[in-house]
Amino acid sequence: MSRIAYVNGRYRLHADAVVHVEDRGYQFADGVYEVIAVQRGRLVDEEAHLSRLDRSLAELRIPWPMSRRALRVVVAEVIRRNRILESGLVYMQVTRGVAPRSHVFPPGVASSLVVTARSLPRFDRDAARKGVAVITIPDNRWKRCDIKSVSLLPNVLGKQQAKEAGAFEAWMIDSDGAVTEGTSSNAWIVSGSAELLTRQASSAILNGITRRAVLDIAAEQGCRLVERPFTVGEAKSAAEAFLTSTTSLVKPVVRIDDTTIGDGRIGPLTERLLELYAGHMLAQEVETG
Ligand SMILES: Cc1ncc(COP(=O)(O)O)c(C=O)c1O
Repeated sequence: MSRIAYVNGRYRLHADAVVHVEDRGYQFADGVYEVIAVQRGRLVDEEAHLSRLDRSLAELRIPWPMSRRALRVVVAEVIRRNRILESGLVYMQVTRGVAPRSHVFPPGVASSLVVTARSLPRFDRDAARKGVAVITIPDNRWKRCDIKSVSLLPNVLGKQQAKEAGAFEAWMIDSDGAVTEGTSSNAWIVSGSAELLTRQASSAILNGITRRAVLDIAAEQGCRLVERPFTVGEAKSAAEAFLTSTTSLVKPVVRIDDTTIGDGRIGPLTERLLELYAGHMLAQEVETG
């Protein structure tokens, strides 16, 4: 079956889905994006993702390419045309549009919108429980990591470094020696005294939608939640560690650099949160409007 992408008003074969050479996303990384999971054909936490898109656009003063309602229709149509009946991912990107190259905002230019989607294998509990390794690297990003910008070069370099080190993710470390987040995920630990720690939302991290869902679940469970920066030393001596993201869900971290975390397998709280997050993800209501 051919994949279909939406590009600025048209549904196109994926192979023919192109943007203009002077799109500001291409020339300046002047754009933002969202990735939303599809489970059982439904979008997971769609409203939260669209609200974060709204915030990212507002921070960069990029106008919405269409109304929020119209965007929902386009996303639903891309899912339908790509026949994502079970699991998948939707990617949407909005840039400041196409204009002759000049740093200042171009006046009167419509923002560009691209929406793509792909199917993924169905959620596999056993695969999800498998622990991964992370490395630590300096966080050398800009100071507005709360904006989901397409400018991802440090993240790309960090993820590649992780891959070359045989790890799944790189946790980035700020100038105080504290973990900010992963290159495409948020970082969590469970301390020896059973506190669940993740860095508070600020301009130093992207406030993950999965992070927020897991915070809600943990609060409902009566976990001892602490939102604060934690150091690499704290992470390495933690009882459990995990990362969260739309694509990785709740993923156990069992090695940080050369240090094994816990007994090298998924920890009990991580396991509970994974189970509850999977329940949340698979139980999305059909939203109207
Ligand atoms: C830098 C960064 N942090 C955190 C996340 C997790 O965000 P979410 O849970 O919304 O996928 C992502 C996701 O891509 C990311 O790129």
